[in-house]
Amino acid sequence: MARVYVTREIVGEALDRLRAVHDVEVWPGPEPPSRAELLAAVAGAEGLLAMLTERIDVELLDAAPQLRAVANYAVGYDNIDLTATRARGIAVGVTPEVLTEATADLAFALLLACARRFPEAQAAVIGGRWGSWEPVRWLGADVHGATLGIVGFGRIGRAVAKRAAGFEMTILATRATPLEELLERSDFVSLHCPLTAETHHLIDAEALSRMKPTAILVNTARGGVVDQPALVAALRTGTIAGAALDVTDPEPPQPDDPLLSAPNVIVLPHIGSATVATRSKMTEIAVENLLAALDGRPMPNPVD
Ligand code: DGY
Repeated sequence: MARVYVTREIVGEALDRLRAVHDVEVWPGPEPPSRAELLAAVAGAEGLLAMLTERIDVELLDAAPQLRAVANYAVGYDNIDLTATRARGIAVGVTPEVLTEATADLAFALLLACARRFPEAQAAVIGGRWGSWEPVRWLGADVHGATLGIVGFGRIGRAVAKRAAGFEMTILATRATPLEELLERSDFVSLHCPLTAETHHLIDAEALSRMKPTAILVNTARGGVVDQPALVAALRTGTIAGAALDVTDPEPPQPDDPLLSAPNVIVLPHIGSATVATRSKMTEIAVENLLAALDGRPMPNPVD
């Protein structure tokens, strides 16, 4: 029986299968443990079920000398120093596939909401500012037949493309179209690449300046892919028309972050995979990864 630390309460029954064979402790708070609490909690842990909010780095690994397996509760793993985990022979797993459709749904919902100005329109209704049917107010952008640029044509990017096909959109993807051309031709640009050293601030001031002044940027990937101050400036100056973001840098933004008062911006609290079914499947995969690695078998969904 190994000691396993789970950094947040998670949904689904799969955790019981882990509890049946290992000594499982779950951090009980609604917010993540503080860094000091986390470092103290992992001492003696052989398995760690971690959220993307936890930085798994040399400091943490030093605090957890018995650690053998990390199951990240996410498909992304930019929170993990893989060089450090590899150097110590620690297995690392992720939760791919199961969150593809939920995240693609959310990307498309953001695209539609921003194009058709849902937040402003709903705020007007709730604020008692819906006078009558309005011939020239709340005019948005057509989604049907528009051009969608998909940056990162992996599982989620391809799932977004399938939804866009139903709207008879023209799809440009970075796999086939150079980024510069994609930015210049797209009415909507949706980001689906992982955050790496290469993609950090991929969408910077120069990239934003290539986009159409009518274009909308959608980000359900990672906040760090976008240079956020450059995005705020682009929204303020009308370089682009809007941004719909499920991810920010940092998360959450401070209440006075200029992003939150920029024009035509929608910000959601990183809910791409947040459906009951998807999160339950993520629990199953994370548990399978831990059960395998703690039993000396390869993880079914290793990081690479
Ligand atoms: C991921 O899995 O990387 C998402 O951002 C959270 O589900």
